[in-house]
Amino acid sequence: MTPDQEPETHLQTRPLHPTLACEITGLALWETPAPETVAALRALWARYGVLVFRRQALSDAEVAAFSAWFGPLERTVRTDWASPNAPEIGVISNLRDGQSRPIGGLGDGEIAWHSDQSYMAHPATGAVLYALELPAEGGHTSWVDLRAAYAGLPDDLKHAIEGRHGIFDYTKRLAGYQEGDRTISEEARRKTPPVSHPLVHTHPITGTKALYLDSTTTVGIAGVDKAAGIALLDEIYRAATQPDNVYTHTWQVGDLLLWDNGFTMHRREPFDSAARRLMKRSTIILDPKRHIVPAGTPADLPAAAA
Ligand code: OGA
Ligand code: MN
Repeated sequence: MTPDQEPETHLQTRPLHPTLACEITGLALWETPAPETVAALRALWARYGVLVFRRQALSDAEVAAFSAWFGPLERTVRTDWASPNAPEIGVISNLRDGQSRPIGGLGDGEIAWHSDQSYMAHPATGAVLYALELPAEGGHTSWVDLRAAYAGLPDDLKHAIEGRHGIFDYTKRLAGYQEGDRTISEEARRKTPPVSHPLVHTHPITGTKALYLDSTTTVGIAGVDKAAGIALLDEIYRAATQPDNVYTHTWQVGDLLLWDNGFTMHRREPFDSAARRLMKRSTIILDPKRHIVPAGTPADLPAAAA
């Protein structure tokens, strides 16, 4: 594909997938942007869900400042992953310090399809991940377009989830993590009771319907018995994540990716535990007038059929 010139700015864009993911060139993210640049990026983000910027060289403070172009930053419940340089920045890494303690979260294992803050009643759905050190192989991250996934669902599955709410539980996510990441503080536990969110949302800018899903936290569907809810969700995950809906990113050092968890999920392949991978991360509170931001409520865990 040849680069496209966006009419309103000097931004050059290169779509990386038919509906998801677009590379943007011509921007130094450490510089203060013109308002029209931010407006153009917002429009591209609403359309593509994942924006890719390459060859960036950013401090933690600069990653935070760039992220804040799009909304206030959230300090997540994983305060144990926070950067010592900037509390709004998380460290995603398998590296350890001199005392053999992990310097960040998510280690080197596989991470299944998820949407970052699905377990929060009011998820901060904007995310930035910036690559500083990478393994020679593995550790690729993929995103799935949950608008295309919804559009492609067979009618019976669309009807089955119409008006339904999923139940999202952080306890399930924790159980799937590698050992060091499974333990959280009492405060973090208090902040993460099970919540329910509608399984389908409409994007306020594009008007497109999208699924809202997270295979690492969903434990059922509200008002549906536990086994039937899980079976229905499994069927939806299978249909949603078919390869046509997926963009896989091969990381280069200096890549910064910005994604919207409101209509995408992502997954990561594992990598060699002896290799080094160091990423910096921010989490952005997005405006529901511009983004799909699920508004959840506390939920009871699903019950088995009587
Ligand atoms: C995340 C995440 C994947 C990766 O930071 O939320 O899922 O590739 N990271 O490290
Ligand atoms: Mn994630």
